Amino acid sequence: MFPVEMERLELSKTDIDRMLSEVEKENLLFARKDLLDTLTFPSSIVGRKEKAMELVRLIAGYKKGHVVPFISVYGRSGAGKSTVVRFVCENLDDALCCFVNLRRAKTVFGCANLILGEMGEPSLKSAQGINVAVEKIQGAIESLSKGKRLFVLVLDEFDVLFYDKRGKPSDFIYKLLVMEEKLREKGVLSCIIVISNNVMADYEVDDRVRSRMGSTEVFFPAYTKKDVLEILRERAAKAFSAPVDPAVLEYCAEKSSEEHGDARRAIDLLRVAAEIASFKEEKLANVHVDAATDQLQKDRVNLALSSASYHLKLACAALARITYLTGEAWHSTSVIYAQYCKIIRKDTRPLTYRRVSELLTELDNTGLVVSQTSSRGRHGYGTQYKLNISPEIVGSACFPDWWKNVVQKKKEHERKEDEKNNIFMPAGKSHFGGLGRLLDTLEDESWKDFVGLDA
Ligand SMILES: Nc1ncnc2c1ncn2[C@@H]1O[C@H](COP(=O)(O)OP(=O)(O)O)[C@@H](O)[C@H]1O
Ligand SMILES: [Mg+2]
Repeated sequence: MFPVEMERLELSKTDIDRMLSEVEKENLLFARKDLLDTLTFPSSIVGRKEKAMELVRLIAGYKKGHVVPFISVYGRSGAGKSTVVRFVCENLDDALCCFVNLRRAKTVFGCANLILGEMGEPSLKSAQGINVAVEKIQGAIESLSKGKRLFVLVLDEFDVLFYDKRGKPSDFIYKLLVMEEKLREKGVLSCIIVISNNVMADYEVDDRVRSRMGSTEVFFPAYTKKDVLEILRERAAKAFSAPVDPAVLEYCAEKSSEEHGDARRAIDLLRVAAEIASFKEEKLANVHVDAATDQLQKDRVNLALSSASYHLKLACAALARITYLTGEAWHSTSVIYAQYCKIIRKDTRPLTYRRVSELLTELDNTGLVVSQTSSRGRHGYGTQYKLNISPEIVGSACFPDWWKNVVQKKKEHERKEDEKNNIFMPAGKSHFGGLGRLLDTLEDESWKDFVGLDA
């Protein structure tokens, strides 16, 4: 009916050509963009020789017929654990390595299936039971390791196993350890390396399992800012078609080492900053790194909250609110619970304290918050939580309209405080005399009530 409009809506080859050349122009900045993808294996590893050596020392016995059966590798995210373990294992002579990332598993049985899948075996139905799954794993190892002197099974993101509240993670580990013993009797040497963020002692594991797996641990300390900078320099030199301003790389390293030196975050930051710069056809600079920081934080929050329940969002928003209003980072479960009850919809029944404290643990697992359990100190006993991401981003991702109101209230309060402090007055006397003092007190009270700390 409206041919003119139809023409505009239609996508033509010319459009695609134009788009292609536009994207190509945007990508001119990159010589090899894949090097800035944190999912691809790095073409070279910077440093970490002493960690590689620790691992080699633990595994090397296989040449003489013995090996440590279970090694736990742990450390914060982006410390190079997956990268270094993989590199070491894939370069052992006469050994076969099977590297399984458990991130996608939801249950203990799901983990078993991922392991089978990685070894080229078909998945099992959970009704077949975990014993059958472990037998199949054993069978696969026996046939795969023919002609090899060692089989290494790497279970990355091992933490996932323990999120399965109904499955029995400890039991599964026990079965794997027994499997290794059976394999050894058959002349097959094997070693299981698990990689996680936490030390094994943090996980609930039976004593019989603990004694069998021993306490062989390799800790990866977070990178220093200098390490992160080295990694960035090496990547940038290959990934970009023109040299990047060293100050920008330094800024990226600094930004991604604020919490703890995190190589993954640093590389992501550099890639996104470069994308933003090239989209705007500008030279890569610190402003783009700032914009990228914001972008990545938003992405992280939205991803973590995309499947969150109303109550989980509330718990998160509660922490964002109190962090924003007080300017203090750490808050106890009881303070967060009070905030949670304060902001919940009037027609909704609040969950119990216990349940909310479980929600906070869940948030901890998403990486949006960090926790610390203090036994003493000014906060007393109990767990404290801190947002990993700025409260502004978290608050507006949870409930945008509600958050605008929180921000406005704080701005108003700050303005009043400024006014109070800017009017010159002799010590102890308010500008408006007794009435002014009363108004000040009322304002203080209403602000305290709004913040709700003594609730
Ligand atoms: N020493 C290193 N040299 C080069 N790249 C590294 C190094 N350490 C980490 N990276 C890169 O940083 C990202 C995160 O590293 P990764 O090994 O996945 O960390 P973790 O497993 O400890 O979370 C990966 O993209 C990896 O390529
Ligand atoms: Mg990893």
